[in-house]
Amino acid sequence: MTFSIAQAEQELQARRAALNPRWYPHYHLAAQAGWMNDPNGLVWFDGWYHAFYQHHPYSTQWGPMHWGHARSRDLVHWEHLPVALAPEGPEDKDGCFSGSAVVDGDTLALLYTGHKFHGDSSSDDNLYQVQCLATSRDGIHFERQGQVIDTPAGLHHFRDPKVWREGDYWYVVIGARVGDTGQVRLYRSRDLREWQDEGLLAEAKEGAGYMWECPDFFRLNGKWILMFSPQGMAAKGYHNRNLFQSGYLIGDWQPGQPFVPEGEFVEMDHGHDFYAPQSFLTPDGRRIVMGWMDMWESPMPEQQDGWAGMLTLPREIRLGDDNRLRITPAKEMAALRGSYYPLLAQQLKNQSSPIVEDAQVIELDLVWDIHSATAECYGIALGAGLRVFVDAQAQRLVLERRYPEFALEGSRSVALPEGNRLSLRIFIDRSSVEVFVNEGEACLSSRIYPQEAQRQLCVFASHGSATLSSGGYWPLDQ
Ligand code: FRU
Repeated sequence: MTFSIAQAEQELQARRAALNPRWYPHYHLAAQAGWMNDPNGLVWFDGWYHAFYQHHPYSTQWGPMHWGHARSRDLVHWEHLPVALAPEGPEDKDGCFSGSAVVDGDTLALLYTGHKFHGDSSSDDNLYQVQCLATSRDGIHFERQGQVIDTPAGLHHFRDPKVWREGDYWYVVIGARVGDTGQVRLYRSRDLREWQDEGLLAEAKEGAGYMWECPDFFRLNGKWILMFSPQGMAAKGYHNRNLFQSGYLIGDWQPGQPFVPEGEFVEMDHGHDFYAPQSFLTPDGRRIVMGWMDMWESPMPEQQDGWAGMLTLPREIRLGDDNRLRITPAKEMAALRGSYYPLLAQQLKNQSSPIVEDAQVIELDLVWDIHSATAECYGIALGAGLRVFVDAQAQRLVLERRYPEFALEGSRSVALPEGNRLSLRIFIDRSSVEVFVNEGEACLSSRIYPQEAQRQLCVFASHGSATLSSGGYWPLDQ
């Protein structure tokens, strides 16, 4: 099969008309129809935020990758644009894989991975991944400039270029697999076309992954953050529970030197569904991250509705004094808020009280008093499928989802914060929940699939009492 943008657009038009909207997000970015995975090419260009994404317009399954495209003035309302890249050339004939965008004067430049097999595609020995360039003046139509970095000798997995500007040079980090060791490789260029190999930036120690996907490398408060998505880290206790992880190392770096990490890999999100995050800068200098809010090999019930996959909210990241990232929803999200409905401060004792009858698209803000609680469990429930609650015995905040009809059951959790105050900002958007704990100390993101009449939102305390010190909610963009 050969692919083109025109053909992809035609296909999308037909598929869009047949979409079942019951779980389709209201304020998160999802493909118009078909499949979506990683965010790509996040960038501010010429007055717009652009978000591209891994996209298969022809089905709700992963397939030959295209780059879907949307833009936004405010990070909140997204407008779909035509597919930006289709796997049309010999260099990307089996897919336009993940990559990034930079603004080069008046040009928007995309660097992405051309994915291709030479011969039989069932063997990785025939796999080649090369880095390709595409450019645009209007931010909508892209000219393919072809391959700019070839696969290094002996490598097969070599993908997901993330470019940035440092002094007089462009730099790019690229994920790689050597044997069973994940790596990040570094290259340097003056013009985005001729690239010089700068060697290894970082590499997995024992047990830290056989492949590092989607690396991103940036400075925050004088430190360097290497954010990446390792495959192959074993689960340990409450950590690394998803099939693949996403997180970061913090350290120091100077051009021409290797990256020197301090401390261990830290997961960025503790829910079931978060992968391949990518960062970008706002014009006022904030570092924002968006991720794919799904997980490889996890059931995606929305496939029966004609679409699959969505991105997380844009999240601002800052570096805390403890050398950990603080992750909060971008402040722009407040623009979506309708009227505020305060909840009375209350003590709940062995009870569940409804607060919203049909919670589809909502932001909740709750503060619980940890020390005075005697309840074994307290928090919120959405229908019978989702609970976000404190497990007092385990001293953890738990996100539990239970949709056995879709083979999605289980919980994720984080340790309770120190101190007495547990503040939760919770965003629900039809088939997703994102929980931000104590102004960004932790976040948990998961997909949820409530059936009709399964959206009553309650606060509850069981086996004892718990005090909701303050709280309320906003319907979002009704
Ligand atoms: C991460 C990833 C990338 C790759 C893309 C393919 O989810 O596997 O490494 O470029 O997805 O769609």
